[in-house]
Amino acid sequence: MAERLDKILSSQGIATRREAQRLIRSGKVTVDGRIQKDPASKADPEQCEIALSGRSLRYRRHIYIMLNKPAGLLCVSRDPKAKTVIDLLPPDFWRQGLFPAGRLDKDTVGLVLITDDGDFAHRMLSPKKEIVKRYRAVINGPVGEEEIRLFAAGTSLEDGTRCRPAVLRVLEPSERPLVEVEITEGRYHQIKRMFGSVDRKVLWLKRMSIGKLVLDPRLEEGACRELGPGECSAVFE
Ligand code: URA
Repeated sequence: MAERLDKILSSQGIATRREAQRLIRSGKVTVDGRIQKDPASKADPEQCEIALSGRSLRYRRHIYIMLNKPAGLLCVSRDPKAKTVIDLLPPDFWRQGLFPAGRLDKDTVGLVLITDDGDFAHRMLSPKKEIVKRYRAVINGPVGEEEIRLFAAGTSLEDGTRCRPAVLRVLEPSERPLVEVEITEGRYHQIKRMFGSVDRKVLWLKRMSIGKLVLDPRLEEGACRELGPGECSAVFE
């Protein structure tokens, strides 16, 4: 779809709308190799080659970023006082309207998706989709058959909320076991409250996957990368 040239540049986070107009007027922007000095001229960014100072623009209508969230950051777009997951993004990924699709607690680590695509986030977070979210956790006491059975039956939270059946596996049994949990909902503090319902506390929590999209093991905590082709749809598989 054809759009104004200044709007295309600003939508890609290259410049504000004002700056984009200035860059275009100064002759730094070409469309299919020809200088275009009118910010209001229209171009289809999916069909033409737009370049700034000779560098071709890699146009993306939306951006999808996988982040390995460290502890201590808020999972929101912005906060007047605290650091958020958006603050971790390198300038290449900056553009308007970025937000984390779904929340992890401040002390939870692992897979967070950041996007500017509201439809994608809406579909991903819809409870009807029942997308499986897999977490690893360290628990403050032994976990065994009884807890596995209670999770499979659907736990009742302290306020009476019934959770959907969840899969609980013990990966490393001990007094402080490492476990894996799969849930298809995203209630506030859900995993912590589910363990609370069986008199346990979560000492450490990490999200490993959403649908078939697995946290890239090469991403260190705090690092992020764009999703590759096919990875967005993996969320819904
Ligand atoms: N469940 C929790 O308790 N916390 C999270 O951050 C995610 C799931």
